[in-house]
Amino acid sequence: MNLVLFGAPGSGKGTQSALLIERMGYTQISTGDLLRKAVANLTQLGQSAKSYMDKGDLVPDELVIDMVREVIGSNPKISFIFDGFPRTEAQAISLESMLAEFKTGIHKAIFLQVPNSELMSRLTGRRVCQKCGAVFHVRNKPSSKDGVCDICGGRLIQRKDDFADVIERRLVAYEEMTLPLKDFFQKKGILSVLDGTGETEVVFSGLKTILS
Ligand code: AP5
Repeated sequence: MNLVLFGAPGSGKGTQSALLIERMGYTQISTGDLLRKAVANLTQLGQSAKSYMDKGDLVPDELVIDMVREVIGSNPKISFIFDGFPRTEAQAISLESMLAEFKTGIHKAIFLQVPNSELMSRLTGRRVCQKCGAVFHVRNKPSSKDGVCDICGGRLIQRKDDFADVIERRLVAYEEMTLPLKDFFQKKGILSVLDGTGETEVVFSGLKTILS
């Protein structure tokens, strides 16, 4: 089953995807993670994407779509969670046609609903392991030792786009470009809306119910 997990920046897409991978064997395609890897590796894609990401703007559709096509094409039979993709209607239409080429499709689109008032504190307080990518939060999910990853001992950092001015811009991009996908998936009859405000395990239970 292919799932699209979408919602505002900080709504918990990455956190819930990690649980789906660990407990239900899904494979994740996170365009944010793929883009950050491309930036770190100084690839041509990374160099083109960096200025958009640093400002909090969306990376142009064609760059992201090509990147996703490459990943799907290398493993077309796997069940994917699409985390942070699609983010525009053009991306959604491309994803449908890419999957159709492999005789599959988007089976469920799950919208994680979290009010804006909570998003800012989730994002400014997020800390990410530089080495393994594990996600923590200074208050909601602190690491045992300040600044050090519990899983691999790597250094915890604040993402460049997790500062208030960039977050504001990401939220605007989300409202303008991504929120309308709710209607898009509703019309396709595959939309589920999930309250993303409870404890992580409570949200995950809701996710499992949708998938059952
Ligand atoms: P991306 O990395 O996809 O960022 P995002 O969508 O803004 O999402 P986040 O990773 O910030 O949040 P999340 O929902 O995964 O939340 P998380 O689980 O970490 O994209 C970054 C940039 O790349 C974009 O701005 C854009 O430039 C570019 N990009 C990426 N994809 C693109 C595309 N398709 N098209 C164009 N451009 C693209 O949780 C956040 C925090 O909250 C954590 O600290 C966590 O511990 C905490 N938390 C999670 N759940 C809970 C809970 N239930 N209760 C309390 N705290 C919680």
